[in-house]
Order: sequence, then structure tokens, then C-alpha cells
Amino acid sequence: VAEPIADPQAPEIGQLIADMIDTLADAAGAGLAAPQVHVPLRLVMFHVPAARVREEDGEAAESCPFTVLINPEIEILNNDTVEDLADDMVDGLEACLSLPGLAGIVPRYNQIHYRGLTPLGETIERRAHGFHARVVQHECDHLDGVLYPMRMRDLSTLSFTSELSRAESEEQKDSEQ
Ligand code: NI
Repeated sequence: VAEPIADPQAPEIGQLIADMIDTLADAAGAGLAAPQVHVPLRLVMFHVPAARVREEDGEAAESCPFTVLINPEIEILNNDTVEDLADDMVDGLEACLSLPGLAGIVPRYNQIHYRGLTPLGETIERRAHGFHARVVQHECDHLDGVLYPMRMRDLSTLSFTSELSRAESEEQKDSEQ
């Protein structure tokens, strides 16, 4: 379990953030947590890629600018129309830079509120839903040593991404015919 950061503006935190931005850009990922670069501190970074926003349908689409979040806290928001919080979860495909070449279907809460500090020590508070909520939950899990397969309900959906892209291109071929 990663430790809170006492001073977001400390020079070594600035260096860590710069290194992580490089790592994330190299991997073309949606997010990264400090423990993934072997630094056990509570720092995550993420964004919602534009392609994701286009994929999600109308109302659900929500973009999120690139964000660095220090000492993040998540609160699950319950949709008043459901009795059980678990009913507020949605399944979605996730991959992780710590598990290269794999992807699986993971249930996540659809609506959350999160807060944390910016690298300047200012407070960020946001509501998030859809992929935005998913990426924040995924990255914050890393701070507690949780990887997405530990959240999966059905491990049989864990696949090699090479298999998934082959299945996808075969599907596409079928639909083109
Ligand atoms: Ni990850």
C-alpha cells in the first residue's frame, strides 16, 4: 500500500511526475500510478482519450483533460433508483501497463466523486462517470496494490490483446462482406 505524499511541491515529486509523463506517453496509455514505476507513493495521472469519448454514446460521453492527482480519494455515488450499490457497476474492457498484452472485462462503479491535490497543492474535486470514472478507479487501485484481474467477476474473459484484435478484425471483415 502506497504512502501519502507530504509535500506535492517537493522537487523529487516534480521529477517523479515528469518521469511518469514520459512513461505514459511511451506506452500510449490512459493512466499510470506511481507504484507502476516502483515508487510507493499516492500519485496517479490519467486522461480520457478523445477516441473513448466518441465511442461512448451521447449522454455518457465525458472527456477529462490530462490530470495529475496526489493523495486521491474516491467516493462511490449511488444512483437513487437502484437499491444495491453493486447494480451501479458497469462492465468494460481494461488493460494495464503492468500486465502487458492482456485485457479483461472489469466491473466498475459508474459514478464517483473524487478529490485530491494538484502538483501545486491545490484541491481538485470532480464528479465522474463512464470511462472517466473507470480510469480513476483503476489507477487508484494501484495505490492499494490491486490489479484489475482481482476485480474481475469472470477470469475467463482475460485475454491476450493479440487475440482480441484478431477477433475484432475478423468481425470487421465479416461485416464488410
Ligand atoms: Ni494499471
